[in-house]
Amino acid sequence: MASINASRSSARQLVWLVTGCSSGLGQQIALAILAHDDCVIATARQLTDLEYLNTIEGGRERAYCTSLDVTNPCDRIHEQLKKAIAYFGRVDVLVNNAGFVVSGVWEEVSDAEVRQQFETNFFGTMKVTRCVLPYMRNARSGVILFMGSIAGWHGVGAGGPYSASKFAIEGAAESLSKEVSHLGIRTHVLVLGQFRTNILEESRKCGTVDLIGIQEYDAIKAEMVVRHKKTHGKQPGDPKAAAERVLDIARLENLSEKERIGLGLRVPLGSDAIDVIQLKCSKTLDSLEKWVDFAHSTDFPISEHLPSYAM
Ligand SMILES: NC(=O)c1ccc[n+]([C@@H]2O[C@H](COP(=O)([O-])OP(=O)(O)OC[C@H]3O[C@@H](n4cnc5c(N)ncnc54)[C@H](OP(=O)(O)O)[C@@H]3O)[C@@H](O)[C@H]2O)c1
Repeated sequence: MASINASRSSARQLVWLVTGCSSGLGQQIALAILAHDDCVIATARQLTDLEYLNTIEGGRERAYCTSLDVTNPCDRIHEQLKKAIAYFGRVDVLVNNAGFVVSGVWEEVSDAEVRQQFETNFFGTMKVTRCVLPYMRNARSGVILFMGSIAGWHGVGAGGPYSASKFAIEGAAESLSKEVSHLGIRTHVLVLGQFRTNILEESRKCGTVDLIGIQEYDAIKAEMVVRHKKTHGKQPGDPKAAAERVLDIARLENLSEKERIGLGLRVPLGSDAIDVIQLKCSKTLDSLEKWVDFAHSTDFPISEHLPSYAM
């Protein structure tokens, strides 16, 4: 394990590791980190996409740039991150930001497309997380942030691969938080609404959504394609403002008393995130009320009192 390299980071500064800093939210988070005098290990698939960090104040001293494709094998990611973390001597905050969108209806998307989605959004994210955990566990401190989505609360028609990958992140992060909170490691899923990045740009998206497939799915695919076209560039969320709030969550700054006390696993970002989560919760509670007797009908007449999962 690397020892603290005091010459490159002071105890007062947080050392962040952010994946996918070439654009969008990752880029804004890297810029905000430097603006707040912290240090960043910024990763991108193409190292040249990180050149912007050299041109800003503090970039040369407080940014360590490295190329990282999160779909690389675990051993390779581990070696790359070991070198990067040794540069500052520690890692305090991990932002699992890298991700992209695969669209299409389940009957039409290929197995390869679904796997590609999970390789980045889920397996890649968890590989990076597992590489960073030993450093945080040994330090008995750290913050791990996951980029969740309203699509991980509301299964999007013709957007199943992306939704499924974000639902999976919710489950993994929830388990992780229970495993590591006693080690001084905080885990949060940032449940993002729609933010104005290039995520919906045609060249960035993958999947099968052309209207030459199974005719019965034309309407739902068309609805999704039109929604993406109408939304791209007009999303209500400001990535720069989101980046500031991401720093607030990690640094526990600029939070009201209510927010500080109520800080749990999930942190919504964007007014649309609140709307989607509220609707999902109220619909789920309404439905549960109607199914209580039905659910109870499958229990043995007498059953022991067992440890509960509802914790
Ligand atoms: N914008 C939104 O409305 C929104 C909403 C909910 C959640 N999110 C989540 O927020 C995160 C950032 O998205 P964004 O909106 O900022 O989109 P973005 O501008 O397209 O940025 C995505 C980043 O992920 C990187 N990436 C993609 N595949 C990668 C891989 N295999 N290995 C390493 N990096 C990879 C991209 O790098 P390249 O440049 O090399 O492709 C890019 O840096 C994603 O996890 C996304 O799912 C965004």
